[in-house]
Amino acid sequence: MVRAAILGTGSVAPSRAVTNRDLEDRMDTSDAWITQRTGIRERRIGLPTEKWSDFMLPACRIALETAGVGPEEIGLIVAGTMTADMRMPSGGCVLQEGLGAVNAAAFDVSSACSGFVYGLTIADRFIRAEPDLKVLVAGGDMLSPWIDWGDRSTAVLFGDGGGAAVLAASDDPDRGILSSRIRSDGTLGRLLTIAGDGSQLAFGDKPEMGNRKIRMIGAELFKVAVRSMETVCGEVLAEAGLTDEDVDIVVPHQANLRMIQALADRFGVSMDRVFVNVDRYGNTSAGTIPLALDEAVRAGRVRRGDVVLMPVFGGGLTWGATLVRW
Ligand code: ACO
Repeated sequence: MVRAAILGTGSVAPSRAVTNRDLEDRMDTSDAWITQRTGIRERRIGLPTEKWSDFMLPACRIALETAGVGPEEIGLIVAGTMTADMRMPSGGCVLQEGLGAVNAAAFDVSSACSGFVYGLTIADRFIRAEPDLKVLVAGGDMLSPWIDWGDRSTAVLFGDGGGAAVLAASDDPDRGILSSRIRSDGTLGRLLTIAGDGSQLAFGDKPEMGNRKIRMIGAELFKVAVRSMETVCGEVLAEAGLTDEDVDIVVPHQANLRMIQALADRFGVSMDRVFVNVDRYGNTSAGTIPLALDEAVRAGRVRRGDVVLMPVFGGGLTWGATLVRW
């Protein structure tokens, strides 16, 4: 059986760090509130002169170098993002040009925070169908231009950053993606929106849709997110014939430490088997899992043979999980 293995990862975030104390000067919030409710201590926010590809291109280059794969060997680029440099060309095509990945087809997957897991799932299916294919999956967002700095309930949560992974068919039948599933529920889309930024606003005066910033119903989202991730984690484990005890490390979506703890609790996994870096980056949307995975690998927390579980949840609503034997 052909399995898609992750050969290398890379991640980069803009260099400007914004601490909770910095936010105290801008809005009615406190370091204590943010830390207790979210676990976030600082996040990276790009400068006004910076754009998505300024951090995504270097992240992809590191992933290629770590994998030992040249850009011309890549046959497919999947970019999980909703905040690429421009509406057209796509982020995937911008990465293709910047990397010199001349043989790749490239496209974006717009599934908010779930973009990287959606991308891994697409790569898995493509590689099973075309075992010679090498795929670059990028995941990252630069949400800062869409943050409403006057809305403390969302402004403290998000940051900019992302990462990438290079995948190819594994020679070792035990290594690679064991199971990967994606899910959506558009009926709950209203819980997390950037509503006034699409074709519904292109013609005519529709002031009610004029809000171009992130809006969120946080408490409701929290509950749906934990429940949905728990279910999909169970599904990928069952498909692989494994249980939660077989999981060496969980690298979850980094939206909120309490959400990660609630998921670990319900799932019966102790926090020492969960990788967390939300304290330093906040919620980077499609960037959270590739940033965390890359850091976990480089810190030696993910070793060859380990079973790694990556659950995600985001706007759409979208969610999913990828289970990999490293
Ligand atoms: N600083 C200080 N006070 C604040 C802040 C802030 N930044 N934000 C809200 N508050 C206040 C509220 O106004 C409210 O005050 P009130 O009681 O006087 O009305 C109080 O704190 C409690 O607000 P809640 O919204 O009930 O706080 P809650 O405990 O639910 O935490 C949070 C809010 C952190 C947003 C939580 O609901 C959450 O994490 N939800 C998930 C949202 C999320 O992660 N979204 C990201 C996208 S989806 C995803 O990635 C999974």
